Amino acid sequence: AIDISSLRSSTGLITLDDGYGNTGSCASAITFIDGEKGILRYRGVPIEDLAARSSFIETAELLIFGELPDPEARDEFRQLLTENSALHRDMRKHFDGFPADAHPMAILSAMINALQAYDLPEIHITDASGFRRAAAALLAKTRTIAAASYKSHIGQPIAYPRYDMPYAENFLHMMFSVPYRDYEPTPEVAHALNMFLVLHADHEQNCSTSTVRMVASGGANLFASVSAGVNALWGPRHGGANMAVVEMLSRIHQEKIPVSRYIDQAKDRSSGVRLMGFGHRIYRSFDPRAQILKEAAHSLLESLNVTDPLLDIARQVEEAALADDYFRERRLYPNVDFYSGIILRAIGIPTDMFTVMFAIGRTPGWIAHWKEIHDNAAQRIHRPRQLYVGEPLTQWLPPAER
Ligand code: ACO
Repeated sequence: AIDISSLRSSTGLITLDDGYGNTGSCASAITFIDGEKGILRYRGVPIEDLAARSSFIETAELLIFGELPDPEARDEFRQLLTENSALHRDMRKHFDGFPADAHPMAILSAMINALQAYDLPEIHITDASGFRRAAAALLAKTRTIAAASYKSHIGQPIAYPRYDMPYAENFLHMMFSVPYRDYEPTPEVAHALNMFLVLHADHEQNCSTSTVRMVASGGANLFASVSAGVNALWGPRHGGANMAVVEMLSRIHQEKIPVSRYIDQAKDRSSGVRLMGFGHRIYRSFDPRAQILKEAAHSLLESLNVTDPLLDIARQVEEAALADDYFRERRLYPNVDFYSGIILRAIGIPTDMFTVMFAIGRTPGWIAHWKEIHDNAAQRIHRPRQLYVGEPLTQWLPPAER
């Protein structure tokens, strides 16, 4: 560890805020969070209203274009999504180039980046209709790529998008339809997936969104910027946490580990174990998304008439952690990932697709932030400083003397 107090910068005054705990990197009008009170709003609209009443696409329009669409705008955007949901014929060849066990996140980021090379319009800040088309194409194609990456992973033919299905239903159709047998989700399953996507749609300056803004500030195109966001999302401390939660709960279940023992391990820093799905940099009393998803997980399992032992274990873990001084003192509560995995499992999504599901959900937020950067004519390139802590001057030596 570096003793920061003993350091002096020879290049002037630099504010050091390791991990940006308290540094605003930008001004943004997209999402409001009050971490103390557990409030989350998209463009001022409470997340609870959107989760209960809005479709994912309506939520995406709110985030990207700044307001809930009227019926005419909604229909026009829906039409754009439909027109742009299929992949370019040549793009499908890329799926064959990946090894069968390639992680779907690797495929997703590579394919989103490749989109720019195919049939998409050039995006100009001044061309509002070009941007609308590109935003619709990215939303629609991300979903198609995600389902296709799964199909190619399991060795099944890629299912084409249907033109008569809403967004969430269409994704499930592409995931689970097989030749001569079309999959149609029940309304309860479609509703649960829609809610999952709405709750993931934006979350201000998280790791992946800040990455998108950073890349965008250099002038990179929408697809390159969003592809960078997908990669930033991949890690287990960020989007990878939903997968890690289910792996953790499965381990507790399969190895019959007493919940109290697991909690003790998570409290011991030397164990390297963290309670996955717990803790959040911003939320210090509760994560409103976790509360909605906890209820939703319960209702979904009930409507499907199935029981999942992992839901019971999740409840036990939550109860034990919330009663424990370690978690209380550090104000660690369940985050969005704690219950989302239970919902995805119930829908039939395989665990290694969980982070991809998060990426589909977060795409509207990434697009909205990319646009905010591009609409700001005075935007400077993001270029943080550092505090140099290496050798002040090192003498160059010839190889024999090193
Ligand atoms: N289990 C056990 N201890 C924890 C946990 C946890 N899940 N989270 C934080 N702590 C402890 C830390 O060890 C630290 O303890 P200390 O004060 O004794 O050193 C203290 O709480 C603060 O932790 P930080 O890592 O400094 O908190 P930070 O705000 O940097 O990290 C994070 C937040 C990454 C979410 C963290 O809580 C974590 O790793 N959680 C588990 C992974 C997870 O669920 N990630 C999903 C986040 S939500 C999202 O990305 C959608």
